[in-house]
Amino acid sequence: MKIYIKTFGCQMNENDSEVAQYYLEQDGFEVIDNEDEADVVILNTCVVRKKAEDKFFSTIGELRKKNKKVGIMGCGAEKERENLFRRGVNFVIGTRAIPRISEAVELSLKNKKVAFFDDLLDQIDYKNILRRSSKYHAWITIIYGCNRFCTYCIVPYTRGREKSRKMSEILEEINNLTKKGIKEITFLGQNVDAYGKDLNDGTSLAKLLHETSKIDEIERIWFLTSYPTDFSLEIAYEIANSPKIGRNIHLPVQHGSNKILKKMNRRYTIEEYKELIKKIREIVPDASITSDIIVGFPDETEEDFEDTVKLVREIEFERLNLAIYSPREGTIAWKYFEDNVPRIVKTRRMAYILNLQKEINRKLNEKYLGKEVEVIVESEGKTGYFYGRDIRNKIIAFKASPDLIGKKVIVKVNKITAGPLYGEIIK
Ligand code: SAH
Ligand code: SF4
Ligand code: F3S
Repeated sequence: MKIYIKTFGCQMNENDSEVAQYYLEQDGFEVIDNEDEADVVILNTCVVRKKAEDKFFSTIGELRKKNKKVGIMGCGAEKERENLFRRGVNFVIGTRAIPRISEAVELSLKNKKVAFFDDLLDQIDYKNILRRSSKYHAWITIIYGCNRFCTYCIVPYTRGREKSRKMSEILEEINNLTKKGIKEITFLGQNVDAYGKDLNDGTSLAKLLHETSKIDEIERIWFLTSYPTDFSLEIAYEIANSPKIGRNIHLPVQHGSNKILKKMNRRYTIEEYKELIKKIREIVPDASITSDIIVGFPDETEEDFEDTVKLVREIEFERLNLAIYSPREGTIAWKYFEDNVPRIVKTRRMAYILNLQKEINRKLNEKYLGKEVEVIVESEGKTGYFYGRDIRNKIIAFKASPDLIGKKVIVKVNKITAGPLYGEIIK
Protein backbone atom coordinates (compact mmCIF):
# COMPACT_ATOMS: atom_id res chain seq x y z
CA MET A 1 0.00 0.00 0.00
CA LYS A 2 1.67 3.16 -1.20
CA ILE A 3 0.71 6.55 0.14
CA TYR A 4 1.64 10.00 -1.09
CA ILE A 5 1.15 13.09 1.08
CA LYS A 6 0.70 16.35 -0.80
CA THR A 7 1.18 19.41 1.37
CA PHE A 8 -0.30 22.86 0.81
CA GLY A 9 -0.22 25.92 3.05
CA CYS A 10 2.10 27.00 5.82
CA GLN A 11 5.08 25.46 7.61
CA MET A 12 2.78 24.07 10.26
CA ASN A 13 1.22 21.87 7.63
CA GLU A 14 4.72 20.82 6.53
CA ASN A 15 5.43 19.70 10.07
CA ASP A 16 2.06 17.96 10.37
CA SER A 17 2.78 16.01 7.18
CA GLU A 18 6.00 14.77 8.76
CA VAL A 19 4.00 13.66 11.80
CA ALA A 20 1.46 11.91 9.55
CA GLN A 21 4.25 10.17 7.65
CA TYR A 22 5.72 8.89 10.91
CA TYR A 23 2.43 7.34 12.03
CA LEU A 24 1.79 5.77 8.63
CA GLU A 25 5.26 4.23 8.50
CA GLN A 26 4.96 2.98 12.09
CA ASP A 27 1.91 1.07 10.96
CA GLY A 28 3.58 -0.48 7.96
CA PHE A 29 2.48 1.80 5.14
CA GLU A 30 4.95 2.91 2.54
CA VAL A 31 5.03 6.70 2.13
CA ILE A 32 6.41 7.65 -1.27
CA ASP A 33 7.38 10.86 -3.08
CA ASN A 34 5.51 10.10 -6.25
CA GLU A 35 1.82 10.82 -6.68
CA ASP A 36 1.36 8.65 -9.78
CA GLU A 37 2.49 5.47 -8.07
CA ALA A 38 0.40 6.01 -4.95
CA ASP A 39 -2.76 4.06 -4.13
CA VAL A 40 -3.82 6.62 -1.55
CA VAL A 41 -3.17 10.36 -1.74
CA ILE A 42 -3.50 12.45 1.41
CA LEU A 43 -3.94 16.16 0.86
CA ASN A 44 -2.78 18.34 3.71
CA THR A 45 -4.85 21.39 2.97
CA CYS A 46 -4.94 25.16 3.49
CA VAL A 47 -8.01 27.40 3.40
CA VAL A 48 -6.55 30.72 4.50
CA ARG A 49 -7.84 32.42 1.33
CA LYS A 50 -10.33 31.37 -1.33
CA LYS A 51 -7.56 30.71 -3.82
CA ALA A 52 -5.97 28.11 -1.53
CA GLU A 53 -9.36 26.49 -1.01
CA ASP A 54 -10.12 26.36 -4.75
CA LYS A 55 -6.79 24.66 -5.30
CA PHE A 56 -7.59 21.98 -2.78
CA PHE A 57 -11.04 21.30 -4.24
CA SER A 58 -9.69 21.09 -7.78
CA THR A 59 -6.95 18.70 -6.62
CA ILE A 60 -9.60 16.39 -5.14
CA GLY A 61 -11.35 16.37 -8.52
CA GLU A 62 -8.16 15.48 -10.38
CA LEU A 63 -7.35 12.65 -7.99
CA ARG A 64 -10.85 11.20 -8.23
CA LYS A 65 -10.47 11.07 -12.00
CA LYS A 66 -7.29 9.07 -11.54
CA ASN A 67 -9.16 6.66 -9.26
CA LYS A 68 -7.02 7.29 -6.20
CA LYS A 69 -8.31 6.99 -2.69
CA VAL A 70 -8.23 10.48 -1.23
CA GLY A 71 -7.74 11.53 2.38
CA ILE A 72 -7.94 15.10 3.62
CA MET A 73 -6.05 16.53 6.57
CA GLY A 74 -5.09 20.08 7.56
CA CYS A 75 -7.22 23.21 7.79
CA GLY A 76 -9.51 22.23 4.92
CA ALA A 77 -10.46 19.07 6.82
CA GLU A 78 -11.62 21.17 9.76
CA LYS A 79 -13.46 23.68 7.65
CA GLU A 80 -15.33 21.26 5.40
CA ARG A 81 -15.57 18.20 7.66
CA GLU A 82 -18.08 15.55 6.50
CA ASN A 83 -19.10 17.75 3.53
CA LEU A 84 -15.98 16.42 1.87
CA PHE A 85 -17.59 13.01 1.45
CA ARG A 86 -19.89 14.59 -1.12
CA ARG A 87 -16.81 15.36 -3.16
CA GLY A 88 -15.82 11.72 -3.17
CA VAL A 89 -13.21 11.95 -0.42
CA ASN A 90 -12.55 8.69 1.46
CA PHE A 91 -11.43 9.95 4.86
CA VAL A 92 -10.99 13.17 6.80
CA ILE A 93 -8.56 13.83 9.66
CA GLY A 94 -8.78 16.95 11.84
CA THR A 95 -5.72 19.05 12.65
CA ARG A 96 -5.47 17.51 16.13
CA ALA A 97 -6.24 13.89 15.22
CA ILE A 98 -3.14 12.94 13.20
CA PRO A 99 -2.25 9.93 15.41
CA ARG A 100 -5.37 8.20 14.01
CA ILE A 101 -4.30 8.56 10.40
CA SER A 102 -3.42 4.88 9.82
CA GLU A 103 -6.74 3.81 11.26
CA ALA A 104 -8.48 6.12 8.79
CA VAL A 105 -6.51 4.71 5.87
CA GLU A 106 -7.26 1.13 6.92
CA LEU A 107 -10.98 1.78 7.27
CA SER A 108 -11.11 3.55 3.94
CA LEU A 109 -9.52 0.51 2.31
CA LYS A 110 -12.55 -1.42 3.58
CA ASN A 111 -14.66 1.19 1.82
CA LYS A 112 -15.76 2.90 5.01
CA LYS A 113 -15.99 6.71 5.06
CA VAL A 114 -14.43 8.02 8.26
CA ALA A 115 -13.84 11.44 9.75
CA PHE A 116 -11.83 11.85 12.97
CA PHE A 117 -11.71 15.12 14.84
CA ASP A 118 -10.49 14.09 18.29
CA ASP A 119 -7.89 16.17 20.10
CA LEU A 120 -4.94 13.80 20.39
CA LEU A 121 -2.19 16.42 20.55
CA ASP A 122 -0.94 15.13 23.89
CA GLN A 123 -0.27 11.72 22.34
CA ILE A 124 1.98 12.92 19.53
CA ASP A 125 5.26 11.15 19.92
CA TYR A 126 7.57 13.95 18.79
CA LYS A 127 10.70 12.58 20.41
CA ASN A 128 10.57 9.65 18.03
CA ILE A 129 9.48 11.57 14.93
CA LEU A 130 12.96 12.02 13.68
CA ARG A 131 12.63 11.80 9.95
CA ARG A 132 12.31 15.27 8.49
CA SER A 133 11.97 16.61 4.98
CA SER A 134 15.41 18.21 5.31
CA LYS A 135 18.56 16.51 6.55
CA TYR A 136 19.75 19.44 8.64
CA HIS A 137 16.72 21.69 9.21
CA ALA A 138 13.62 20.82 11.24
CA TRP A 139 10.27 22.54 11.77
CA ILE A 140 9.19 22.26 15.38
CA THR A 141 5.63 23.19 16.29
CA ILE A 142 5.71 24.54 19.85
CA ILE A 143 2.23 26.00 20.18
CA TYR A 144 -0.93 24.91 18.41
CA GLY A 145 -3.93 27.02 17.59
CA CYS A 146 -4.70 30.68 18.00
CA ASN A 147 -6.85 32.67 20.43
CA ARG A 148 -6.65 36.00 18.62
CA PHE A 149 -9.69 35.82 16.36
CA CYS A 150 -8.72 38.48 13.86
CA THR A 151 -12.06 39.09 12.16
CA TYR A 152 -10.90 37.96 8.69
CA CYS A 153 -9.04 34.82 9.73
CA ILE A 154 -10.16 31.22 9.65
CA VAL A 155 -7.19 29.77 11.52
CA PRO A 156 -8.74 29.89 15.04
CA TYR A 157 -11.62 27.82 13.65
CA THR A 158 -9.39 25.26 11.96
CA ARG A 159 -6.59 24.98 14.51
CA GLY A 160 -8.51 25.46 17.75
CA ARG A 161 -7.37 27.24 20.90
CA GLU A 162 -3.78 27.88 21.91
CA LYS A 163 -2.03 24.93 23.46
CA SER A 164 1.68 24.89 24.22
CA ARG A 165 3.90 21.87 24.26
CA LYS A 166 6.06 21.28 27.33
CA MET A 167 9.48 22.83 27.08
CA SER A 168 11.22 19.69 28.38
CA GLU A 169 9.60 17.65 25.65
CA ILE A 170 10.63 20.13 22.95
CA LEU A 171 14.23 20.16 24.19
CA GLU A 172 14.25 16.36 24.19
CA GLU A 173 12.99 16.39 20.61
CA ILE A 174 15.74 18.81 19.58
CA ASN A 175 18.42 16.74 21.32
CA ASN A 176 17.25 13.64 19.47
CA LEU A 177 17.16 15.52 16.18
CA THR A 178 20.75 16.71 16.58
CA LYS A 179 21.81 13.04 16.68
CA LYS A 180 20.30 12.75 13.21
CA GLY A 181 22.31 15.69 11.93
CA ILE A 182 19.79 18.50 12.43
CA LYS A 183 21.60 21.82 12.95
CA GLU A 184 18.96 24.37 12.22
CA ILE A 185 15.44 24.58 13.61
CA THR A 186 12.39 26.78 13.22
CA PHE A 187 9.91 27.03 16.07
CA LEU A 188 6.38 27.30 14.80
CA GLY A 189 3.17 28.75 16.14
CA GLN A 190 0.38 30.83 14.64
CA ASN A 191 1.08 33.12 17.55
CA VAL A 192 4.49 31.87 18.58
CA ASP A 193 4.96 34.60 21.21
CA ALA A 194 2.04 33.18 23.19
CA TYR A 195 4.15 30.06 23.71
CA GLY A 196 4.04 28.95 27.36
CA LYS A 197 1.35 31.37 28.52
CA ASP A 198 -1.24 28.60 28.89
CA LEU A 199 1.17 26.41 30.89
CA ASN A 200 1.26 28.92 33.79
CA ASP A 201 4.69 27.78 34.91
CA GLY A 202 6.85 30.61 33.64
CA THR A 203 7.59 28.94 30.30
CA SER A 204 8.09 31.45 27.48
CA LEU A 205 9.51 31.69 24.01
CA ALA A 206 12.43 33.72 25.38
CA LYS A 207 13.30 30.88 27.80
CA LEU A 208 12.96 28.25 25.10
CA LEU A 209 15.28 30.26 22.82
CA HIS A 210 17.74 30.64 25.67
CA GLU A 211 17.80 26.91 26.44
CA THR A 212 17.99 25.92 22.78
CA SER A 213 20.95 28.23 22.22
CA LYS A 214 22.89 26.16 24.74
CA ILE A 215 22.65 23.01 22.60
CA ASP A 216 26.05 22.86 20.90
CA GLU A 217 24.99 21.07 17.74
CA ILE A 218 22.31 23.64 16.97
CA GLU A 219 23.75 26.36 14.77
CA ARG A 220 20.66 28.39 13.92
CA ILE A 221 17.28 28.99 15.46
CA TRP A 222 14.27 30.72 13.91
CA PHE A 223 10.70 31.31 15.08
CA LEU A 224 7.44 32.15 13.32
CA THR A 225 4.94 33.98 13.54
CA SER A 226 5.01 36.83 16.04
CA TYR A 227 1.97 38.77 17.16
CA PRO A 228 2.71 42.40 18.05
CA THR A 229 1.06 42.60 21.48
CA ASP A 230 2.38 39.21 22.55
CA PHE A 231 5.96 39.85 21.46
CA SER A 232 8.04 40.42 24.58
CA LEU A 233 11.27 42.41 24.48
CA GLU A 234 12.92 39.54 26.33
CA ILE A 235 12.83 37.74 22.99
CA ALA A 236 14.72 40.62 21.41
CA TYR A 237 17.31 40.46 24.22
CA GLU A 238 17.74 36.73 23.62
CA ILE A 239 18.38 37.44 19.94
CA ALA A 240 20.87 40.16 20.79
CA ASN A 241 22.72 37.83 23.15
CA SER A 242 22.91 34.76 20.96
CA PRO A 243 24.74 34.59 17.64
CA LYS A 244 22.65 31.51 16.81
CA ILE A 245 19.20 33.08 16.81
CA GLY A 246 18.11 34.36 13.42
CA ARG A 247 17.88 38.15 13.34
CA ASN A 248 14.54 37.98 11.61
CA ILE A 249 11.30 38.85 13.31
CA HIS A 250 8.21 38.16 11.27
CA LEU A 251 5.74 40.60 12.80
CA PRO A 252 2.60 40.88 10.67
CA VAL A 253 1.05 44.33 10.89
CA GLN A 254 -1.84 43.62 8.44
CA HIS A 255 -2.76 47.29 7.97
CA GLY A 256 -1.55 50.86 8.44
CA SER A 257 -4.80 52.44 9.55
CA ASN A 258 -6.12 52.32 13.11
CA LYS A 259 -9.67 52.25 11.84
CA ILE A 260 -9.04 49.07 9.85
CA LEU A 261 -6.86 47.48 12.54
CA LYS A 262 -9.74 47.88 14.94
CA LYS A 263 -12.16 46.34 12.47
CA MET A 264 -9.72 43.48 12.02
CA ASN A 265 -9.61 42.99 15.80
CA ARG A 266 -5.84 43.39 15.79
CA ARG A 267 -5.25 44.54 19.34
CA TYR A 268 -2.73 47.33 18.76
CA THR A 269 -2.61 50.76 17.22
CA ILE A 270 -0.20 51.69 14.50
CA GLU A 271 1.62 53.95 16.98
CA GLU A 272 2.14 50.98 19.32
CA TYR A 273 3.35 48.85 16.45
CA LYS A 274 5.90 51.48 15.39
CA GLU A 275 7.06 51.92 18.97
CA LEU A 276 7.62 48.16 19.22
CA ILE A 277 9.71 48.15 16.03
CA LYS A 278 11.74 51.07 17.34
CA LYS A 279 12.51 49.21 20.57
CA ILE A 280 13.36 45.99 18.72
CA ARG A 281 15.77 47.91 16.50
CA GLU A 282 17.40 49.51 19.53
CA ILE A 283 18.00 46.09 21.08
CA VAL A 284 18.86 44.27 17.83
CA PRO A 285 20.28 46.93 15.48
CA ASP A 286 20.56 44.54 12.53
CA ALA A 287 17.06 43.09 13.00
CA SER A 288 15.29 42.17 9.81
CA ILE A 289 11.61 42.92 10.26
CA THR A 290 9.25 41.21 7.85
CA SER A 291 5.50 41.45 7.73
CA ASP A 292 2.13 40.49 6.25
CA ILE A 293 -0.34 43.02 4.88
CA ILE A 294 -3.91 42.69 3.69
CA VAL A 295 -5.28 45.15 1.11
CA GLY A 296 -8.92 45.71 0.28
CA PHE A 297 -10.36 44.90 3.69
CA PRO A 298 -14.04 45.97 4.00
CA ASP A 299 -14.47 49.76 4.17
CA GLU A 300 -10.82 50.42 3.24
CA THR A 301 -10.91 53.94 1.77
CA GLU A 302 -8.18 55.50 -0.34
CA GLU A 303 -7.10 57.33 2.81
CA ASP A 304 -6.84 54.11 4.82
CA PHE A 305 -4.84 52.54 2.02
CA GLU A 306 -2.51 55.57 2.05
CA ASP A 307 -1.88 54.87 5.73
CA THR A 308 -0.63 51.40 4.79
CA VAL A 309 1.57 52.89 2.06
CA LYS A 310 2.99 55.40 4.53
CA LEU A 311 3.76 52.66 7.02
CA VAL A 312 5.49 50.53 4.40
CA ARG A 313 7.68 53.48 3.42
CA GLU A 314 8.45 54.34 7.00
CA ILE A 315 9.30 50.92 8.42
CA GLU A 316 11.07 49.56 5.33
CA PHE A 317 10.23 45.91 5.89
CA GLU A 318 12.83 43.48 4.70
CA ARG A 319 10.10 41.40 3.07
CA LEU A 320 6.31 41.63 2.77
CA ASN A 321 3.66 38.99 2.15
CA LEU A 322 0.79 40.83 0.53
CA ALA A 323 -2.71 39.47 0.22
CA ILE A 324 -5.99 40.73 -1.09
CA TYR A 325 -8.78 40.35 1.45
CA SER A 326 -10.67 37.12 0.91
CA PRO A 327 -13.90 36.56 2.87
CA ARG A 328 -13.73 33.32 4.84
CA GLU A 329 -16.92 31.52 5.79
CA GLY A 330 -17.72 31.59 9.47
CA THR A 331 -15.46 34.50 10.38
CA ILE A 332 -16.75 37.76 11.90
CA ALA A 333 -15.78 39.74 8.81
CA TRP A 334 -17.65 37.31 6.57
CA LYS A 335 -20.77 37.52 8.74
CA TYR A 336 -20.90 41.23 9.40
CA PHE A 337 -18.79 43.22 6.92
CA GLU A 338 -19.63 43.75 3.31
CA ASP A 339 -16.75 42.91 0.97
CA ASN A 340 -17.18 46.35 -0.57
CA VAL A 341 -13.83 47.31 -2.10
CA PRO A 342 -14.16 46.71 -5.86
CA ARG A 343 -11.92 44.00 -7.29
CA ILE A 344 -10.17 46.46 -9.61
CA VAL A 345 -9.34 48.77 -6.69
CA LYS A 346 -8.01 45.86 -4.67
CA THR A 347 -5.72 44.77 -7.50
CA ARG A 348 -4.46 48.31 -8.06
CA ARG A 349 -3.67 48.76 -4.37
CA MET A 350 -1.94 45.41 -4.25
CA ALA A 351 0.18 46.22 -7.33
CA TYR A 352 1.10 49.61 -5.88
CA ILE A 353 2.49 48.15 -2.67
CA LEU A 354 4.19 45.31 -4.53
CA ASN A 355 6.10 47.85 -6.59
CA LEU A 356 6.92 50.01 -3.63
CA GLN A 357 8.21 47.01 -1.72
CA LYS A 358 10.38 46.01 -4.67
CA GLU A 359 12.08 49.40 -4.54
CA ILE A 360 12.58 49.05 -0.81
CA ASN A 361 13.99 45.54 -1.20
CA ARG A 362 16.48 46.78 -3.76
CA LYS A 363 17.50 49.67 -1.55
CA LEU A 364 17.95 47.47 1.52
CA ASN A 365 19.83 44.88 -0.51
CA GLU A 366 22.28 47.51 -1.71
CA LYS A 367 23.71 47.61 1.81
CA TYR A 368 24.87 44.05 1.22
CA LEU A 369 27.01 44.81 -1.82
CA GLY A 370 30.62 43.80 -1.18
CA LYS A 371 29.79 42.32 2.22
CA GLU A 372 30.94 38.91 3.40
CA VAL A 373 28.13 36.91 4.96
CA GLU A 374 27.91 33.57 6.71
CA VAL A 375 25.46 31.35 4.87
CA ILE A 376 24.17 27.82 5.45
CA VAL A 377 23.91 26.14 2.04
CA GLU A 378 20.35 24.91 1.61
CA SER A 379 19.54 23.63 -1.82
CA GLU A 380 20.37 23.62 -5.48
CA GLY A 381 18.10 25.75 -7.64
CA LYS A 382 17.11 25.14 -11.24
CA THR A 383 19.41 27.88 -12.50
CA GLY A 384 22.62 26.12 -11.54
CA TYR A 385 22.94 28.27 -8.45
CA PHE A 386 22.79 27.07 -4.87
CA TYR A 387 20.74 28.92 -2.31
CA GLY A 388 21.20 29.69 1.34
CA ARG A 389 20.38 32.26 3.97
CA ASP A 390 22.36 34.50 6.22
CA ILE A 391 21.50 35.14 9.88
CA ARG A 392 19.03 37.86 8.80
CA ASN A 393 17.15 35.37 6.62
CA LYS A 394 18.36 37.00 3.41
CA ILE A 395 18.41 34.62 0.47
CA ILE A 396 21.73 34.42 -1.32
CA ALA A 397 22.53 32.57 -4.56
CA PHE A 398 26.01 31.33 -5.41
CA LYS A 399 27.87 28.59 -7.22
CA ALA A 400 28.60 25.57 -5.03
CA SER A 401 28.57 21.80 -5.02
CA PRO A 402 26.02 19.38 -3.51
CA ASP A 403 28.44 18.21 -0.79
CA LEU A 404 28.24 21.68 0.74
CA ILE A 405 24.52 21.40 1.48
CA GLY A 406 23.93 21.89 5.19
CA LYS A 407 27.40 23.44 5.67
CA LYS A 408 28.31 26.97 6.63
CA VAL A 409 30.22 29.00 4.06
CA ILE A 410 31.30 32.61 3.71
CA VAL A 411 29.86 34.27 0.65
CA LYS A 412 30.97 37.61 -0.71
CA VAL A 413 28.01 39.46 -2.22
CA ASN A 414 28.81 40.84 -5.66
CA LYS A 415 25.41 41.48 -7.20
CA ILE A 416 22.08 42.53 -5.83
CA THR A 417 18.52 42.41 -7.12
CA ALA A 418 15.16 43.19 -5.53
CA GLY A 419 14.98 39.44 -4.89
CA PRO A 420 17.98 37.29 -4.00
CA LEU A 421 21.54 38.49 -3.55
CA TYR A 422 24.28 36.90 -5.64
CA GLY A 423 27.79 36.15 -4.56
CA GLU A 424 30.69 33.76 -4.48
CA ILE A 425 31.99 31.48 -1.81
CA ILE A 426 35.26 32.74 -0.44
CA LYS A 427 35.59 30.26 2.44
N1 SAH B 1 -0.69 33.95 12.62
C1 SAH B 1 -0.15 34.77 11.64
C2 SAH B 1 -0.48 34.38 10.23
C3 SAH B 1 -1.77 33.72 9.90
S1 SAH B 1 -2.28 33.45 8.25
C4 SAH B 1 -0.55 36.22 11.96
O1 SAH B 1 -1.20 36.50 12.91
O2 SAH B 1 -0.18 37.09 11.23
C5 SAH B 1 -1.06 34.20 7.26
C6 SAH B 1 -1.46 35.49 6.64
O3 SAH B 1 -2.52 35.32 5.74
C7 SAH B 1 -1.95 36.55 7.61
O4 SAH B 1 -0.90 37.23 8.18
C8 SAH B 1 -2.78 37.44 6.73
O5 SAH B 1 -2.03 38.49 6.20
C9 SAH B 1 -3.24 36.51 5.63
N2 SAH B 1 -4.67 36.24 5.75
C10 SAH B 1 -5.31 35.54 6.71
N3 SAH B 1 -6.63 35.51 6.46
C11 SAH B 1 -6.84 36.22 5.33
C12 SAH B 1 -7.99 36.57 4.56
N4 SAH B 1 -9.19 36.19 4.95
N5 SAH B 1 -7.81 37.29 3.43
C13 SAH B 1 -6.57 37.67 3.04
N6 SAH B 1 -5.47 37.38 3.73
C14 SAH B 1 -5.58 36.66 4.86
FE1 SF4 C 1 -5.24 34.45 12.22
FE2 SF4 C 1 -4.97 36.58 13.70
FE3 SF4 C 1 -4.54 34.18 14.76
FE4 SF4 C 1 -2.85 35.18 12.99
S1 SF4 C 1 -3.28 36.03 15.04
S2 SF4 C 1 -3.67 33.12 13.03
S3 SF4 C 1 -4.15 36.32 11.61
S4 SF4 C 1 -6.48 34.99 14.03
FE1 F3S D 1 -3.35 27.60 5.75
FE2 F3S D 1 -4.07 26.47 7.99
FE3 F3S D 1 -1.59 27.28 7.69
S1 F3S D 1 -5.32 27.78 6.73
S2 F3S D 1 -1.84 29.03 6.34
S3 F3S D 1 -2.56 25.71 6.53
S4 F3S D 1 -2.77 27.35 9.54
